[in-house]
Amino acid sequence: QKDGYDTFMLKEIHEQPHAISETLRGRIENKERIILPELDVIKSRFKTFNKAYFIACGTAYHACLSGANILERLTGIPTSTQAASEFRYGEPIIDEKTLCIFVSQSGETADTLAALRLAKAKKATVIAVANVLGSTISREATATIYTCAGPEIAVASTKAYTTQVIVLLLLAMYIAQTLGKKSEIYRDIIKDIILLPKQIKNILKDEKIFEKYANYLKKQHDAYYIGRNLDYASVLEGALKLKEVSYIHADAYIAGELKHGPIALIEKGSVVIAVATQPHIATKTISNIQETIARGAKVILFTLSNEEAGNVDEIYYMPNINPILQAILVAVPLQLIAYYAAKLKGCDVDKPRNLAKSVTVE
Ligand code: M6R
Repeated sequence: QKDGYDTFMLKEIHEQPHAISETLRGRIENKERIILPELDVIKSRFKTFNKAYFIACGTAYHACLSGANILERLTGIPTSTQAASEFRYGEPIIDEKTLCIFVSQSGETADTLAALRLAKAKKATVIAVANVLGSTISREATATIYTCAGPEIAVASTKAYTTQVIVLLLLAMYIAQTLGKKSEIYRDIIKDIILLPKQIKNILKDEKIFEKYANYLKKQHDAYYIGRNLDYASVLEGALKLKEVSYIHADAYIAGELKHGPIALIEKGSVVIAVATQPHIATKTISNIQETIARGAKVILFTLSNEEAGNVDEIYYMPNINPILQAILVAVPLQLIAYYAAKLKGCDVDKPRNLAKSVTVE
């Protein structure tokens, strides 16, 4: 079943080009329109939404951070992202003009399900993004858009995450299209979405490079991930992946927040993994990196080829693609770094201690 791979996690990382193609299949027409018939039942309500909540747990929550950022950019609808465990016990201000989007690979996560029931009780429109057909969350939502990642066996989510970001992107573009927003914007994105499976295949060809990067982490107790804007969602997910499978403590920071506290932790030999793929703020993150280098950090940087990066230890240039899509691409090297760091430490990558694939209790 592992198709020659050592672990399910590695197999699932490599399945991403296929999982993304499957998730896109039939959802883009003539390279210019998004088709999501799943949403026909609620399409007429789009113009009434005055805010949108994105709600999930763990990795799915990180997908939501990207999704919320993208929906707001493309539609102008104000968004907020919440961990389901907070949302369900908070007092969210919700009514029939609120869109609530629940993301869950398994479709069975207890906190996400409870949050969904709360949103329904308050009369919000409830969309689920799920991977498992017929799961409870998908059955209870007003409409469900499935990721088509196929079964994900490894506890650490990989292909479910990248396909969740894809579905949230399609959803944002579909709402923008239905609201009559300028079509050039999403046409440009569509042109690049179609290239994603190929781009990921190319990144996977560089697997040895990411295995080499993992060596920086082998003897570390901590790792620091930094990024801004969409890159912040990516580094949160990268840090979670590292913690889960290698047990190395990792934290992700908004790069601009470093000097408000976390930089006190940086000392000679600290490892910083930085993601700077958003053209309008990449140089800002890169200047934050210099501050960590000045304090002795070793830096692995993912950025764009036109950025002047200074004296980092390792640099990986991301393909030139619409910035909105970088979160999907950069997930792959971050997954591989976590994977190889765990392998180097002899961890059971597919079944990390203390974790379950589906968290059906609070
Ligand atoms: O099935 P779900 O997407 O609702 O699961 C949510 C989280 O429990 C899950 O993403 C968890 O964080 C993974 N172990 C991450 O790799």
